Amino acid sequence: MTVSVRAPAKVNLYLAVGAPRPDGYHPLATVFQAVDLYDTVTVRPADEITLQMGGIGAHLPTDYTNLAMRAAVHLAEFADVEEGADIFVEKRIPIAGGMAGGSADAAGTLVALDRLWALGLSQEQLLRIGAELGADVPFCLMGGTALGMNRGDELTPLLSRGKYSWVFVTQEAGLSTPDVFRRFDLEGPEAPEVPEVDTRFLAALAQGDTEFVARHAQNDLGECALAMHTDARAIMDACHRASLPAIVSGSGPTIAVFVSQDECLDSLTELMQEAVPTAQCVAARGPVPGAHVV
Ligand code: C5P
Repeated sequence: MTVSVRAPAKVNLYLAVGAPRPDGYHPLATVFQAVDLYDTVTVRPADEITLQMGGIGAHLPTDYTNLAMRAAVHLAEFADVEEGADIFVEKRIPIAGGMAGGSADAAGTLVALDRLWALGLSQEQLLRIGAELGADVPFCLMGGTALGMNRGDELTPLLSRGKYSWVFVTQEAGLSTPDVFRRFDLEGPEAPEVPEVDTRFLAALAQGDTEFVARHAQNDLGECALAMHTDARAIMDACHRASLPAIVSGSGPTIAVFVSQDECLDSLTELMQEAVPTAQCVAARGPVPGAHVV
């Protein structure tokens, strides 16, 4: 038996960040959207748990430092499973790009092994296990469009009408999420204790006013990420010059460009590569469901 799961990347349409808590995590008020850029996790029965990485992640470690491996071991312990599994992750989501690729792999692994090991866990149980692995894992399980509070792991599904078309401009070199948060603490503006999402933004999402959403999307980590990545800054400047609404995705350095259907990927790629020759562009649409068996 083989089980394959597709796990989506995310973009934060809105990311408000508060002052750090004693445990180092930051309270967030964020609107997540899952997009149709997927990593695929395939699992097969085995005596031990092993991990192999493929696609653009073929060079990544396959030991316990990989969140997919941690997810498998954690799930086996939680459910008292003695069997193993061979896990293969085919990676397409940019690495260290601010799109929750590692969290998607963990979410995909949980869903795949739940099926392979016939555990029959509820979505609620999976969400709880996911939250122990990382702040973005629950959203990669849930998908759609959701409000994330606390560490970003307390989720409420949001009413969101319409489809969003994106071009994600990715970079060769990634950014470390903890480093970006650290810079936010050092250089960021006075951060509130309890960050909030503007209610007009939520109303626009519910009404399907994609133009309002594109114009008012915001990311409190954006300036910090751009200050740490000159190529991402150059891409953002190019977007501004071309009047393209764009935001930093999560902790960056991927830039998420809101596009209308008639914008052509080829011409956008050309424009972006004039600014940064090594930049890559990938088109995606959202929202889409969370990690699911295919
Ligand atoms: O939970 P996860 O391991 O994905 O988070 C990676 C890092 O991002 C954390 O170690 C922390 O430095 C930072 N982070 C944060 N506040 C959040 C989420 C993540 O400071 N709400």
